[in-house]
Amino acid sequence: MDVLVTGGDGFVGRHLCAELVDRGHDVESLSRTPDPSVLPAEVTTASGDVREFSSIEGAFEGTDAVVHLVALSPLYQHRISQEEVHAEGTENAVEAADAHGVERFVQMSSIGTHPDGRTSYTHAKGIAEWTVYQSDLDWVVFRPSMIFGDGGELIPFTERFTTPYVTALPEGGRPPMQPIWVGDVVSMLAEGVEDDAHVRSTYELGGPEVLTVADVARKIYRARGQSLRVLPVPMALATLGLTLVDPLSVVPFGRDQARQMKMNLAVEGNDIGAFGREAADLRTLGAYVRSN
Ligand SMILES: NC(=O)c1ccc[n+]([C@@H]2O[C@H](COP(=O)([O-])OP(=O)(O)OC[C@H]3O[C@@H](n4cnc5c(N)ncnc54)[C@H](OP(=O)(O)O)[C@@H]3O)[C@@H](O)[C@H]2O)c1
Repeated sequence: MDVLVTGGDGFVGRHLCAELVDRGHDVESLSRTPDPSVLPAEVTTASGDVREFSSIEGAFEGTDAVVHLVALSPLYQHRISQEEVHAEGTENAVEAADAHGVERFVQMSSIGTHPDGRTSYTHAKGIAEWTVYQSDLDWVVFRPSMIFGDGGELIPFTERFTTPYVTALPEGGRPPMQPIWVGDVVSMLAEGVEDDAHVRSTYELGGPEVLTVADVARKIYRARGQSLRVLPVPMALATLGLTLVDPLSVVPFGRDQARQMKMNLAVEGNDIGAFGREAADLRTLGAYVRSN
């Protein structure tokens, strides 16, 4: 199949492009500033900004399937709004897919997204999902928890905001997540591209363990032979701190990141079974950090 991966040179995208090439597909990656150095040589690149329909439309021509991965990380504040990239960008991608008769549209969403979402990321991605549901395309929607793997943000982000031995975390780092390895995610995304059985389905994907933020930090430091004791900071205090720095453009955090930190990112019903996987088949975060 001819597959277009929007955001194909990002973290998930580069792993997905490699997976699709391995499965024999012709793959093109679309992003604003393509970086072929992170992609297999077989992958072609196109440049375009999902916020401008005319800049992306041509890349959809002759495409059998689109995997829409374009992202703006919720972990940091940006000058561009989540709404522009996720909500308007998805509208443009859906319109371009429709205009060019694309058969399959795989939408990468995220756990906890909803049009009434409390953070700008969950809200914008919720609207994006809704746009896909309203379309006549053969869509498949994926809603993973946090994803880890080579090139991902979870581990560097945790290292940036914690220290080994003793670290302070809002609420003692209690909000849960269910980290899933990027290799497991992209194999399921590829099946979403290839297998008609998945059309018009939404899948929540979580890894084999529900972990708190503190558990994630402990696993990272333990792999290096370092211990970690977590000192709880009241969430109200952390929220106040982030609200105060919100207007400072030099600080990439604000109110929105405080809300994001409180979110439960564990999945309610893990849909990995729809791809013939069981929790025991998936790579754990502990195994990944020990191998790196
Ligand atoms: N990483 C996670 O833990 C996680 C968890 C759940 C869901 N997801 C979802 O998975 C998808 C991929 O995430 P990721 O972590 O791989 O993101 P990422 O590493 O930040 O990659 C983002 C990609 O989108 C491109 N992009 C950004 N803005 C664009 C725009 N306006 N027009 C065109 N391309 C644009 C980027 O390239 P340029 O900057 O060059 O344009 C890059 O290729 C996203 O939908 C995200 O919401 C991720």
